[in-house]
Amino acid sequence: MNYLLLIICSVFALASGSSKTLPISSFDEGFSHLFGDNNLQILKDGKSVHLSLDQRTGSGFLSHNLYLHGFFSASIKLPDYYTAGVVVAFYMSNGYMYEKNHDEIDFEFLGNIRGTEWKIQTNIYGNGSTDVGREERYSLWFDPSDDFHQYTILWTQDHIIFYVDDIAIREIKRTKSMDRDFPSKPMKLYATIWDASQWATSEGKYKVNYKYAPYVAEFSNFILHGCTVDSVELLSLQCDPETISDSIIPMERTKLESFRKKHMKYSYCHDKMRYKKPPSECVLDPKEA
Ligand SMILES: *[C@@H]1O[C@H](CO)[C@@H](O)[C@H](O)[C@H]1NC(C)=O
Repeated sequence: MNYLLLIICSVFALASGSSKTLPISSFDEGFSHLFGDNNLQILKDGKSVHLSLDQRTGSGFLSHNLYLHGFFSASIKLPDYYTAGVVVAFYMSNGYMYEKNHDEIDFEFLGNIRGTEWKIQTNIYGNGSTDVGREERYSLWFDPSDDFHQYTILWTQDHIIFYVDDIAIREIKRTKSMDRDFPSKPMKLYATIWDASQWATSEGKYKVNYKYAPYVAEFSNFILHGCTVDSVELLSLQCDPETISDSIIPMERTKLESFRKKHMKYSYCHDKMRYKKPPSECVLDPKEA
């Protein structure tokens, strides 16, 4: 065990009881520009960024560091009005390092024909498991283009939890059977906006309409609270799984369940067209099976 990293992880555990006590990173501390030249704009406060999509290009940024587990969060305000075909993504990936066996943890916001109807999608891939999508889609209890809301990915050795504000909306437990499909290699954090006319809105029926461009997604209050991994000696650094698990925000299971009951529009577990037999981690209500 690397001692420096143990210390970093312990501080991380102590600081975490709730997301509100975690430090906010400025854009420059945490991130670099990924693509889209001046469609990425850092605001004067240094903590907020605008990502735009226009006819020329989308835009995006990525974290300087690679992380193995942690708490990753941003306040996001989505573009409003007509946003069909527009996708805003806030995600972790290591696709640039592992072309064939990458890992991914995704929040994707899928635009729609009127601003109030954004849908959120969550998904994960582990070690190149792109043949098994684990997508879920939800509506929200607010209009995400009206104001900033906090979106969080918590990733530990055996759990992934997606939060919207302080409400856990999805928990993925690492089960024996999903094993290699659970993200387990260091990843970077990304945010992008792009044209997904091909699939984003009603299976591609509604395309991006550049009459309404630029589409601007606003990001602020970044929390990058994970165990950093040396990008050269990947395997030489290890995080202490115990201390990371301790940092989970207490999850209110009744709120999670009531969110899912009311707002879940799609789950891969119920998609019989794709999976005759749902992936083994799916626990279906026997009444529905
Ligand atoms: C991940 O994928 C690589 C390359 O396909 C493979 O060699 C490795 O055994 C896989 N790891 C696990 C844990 O399945």
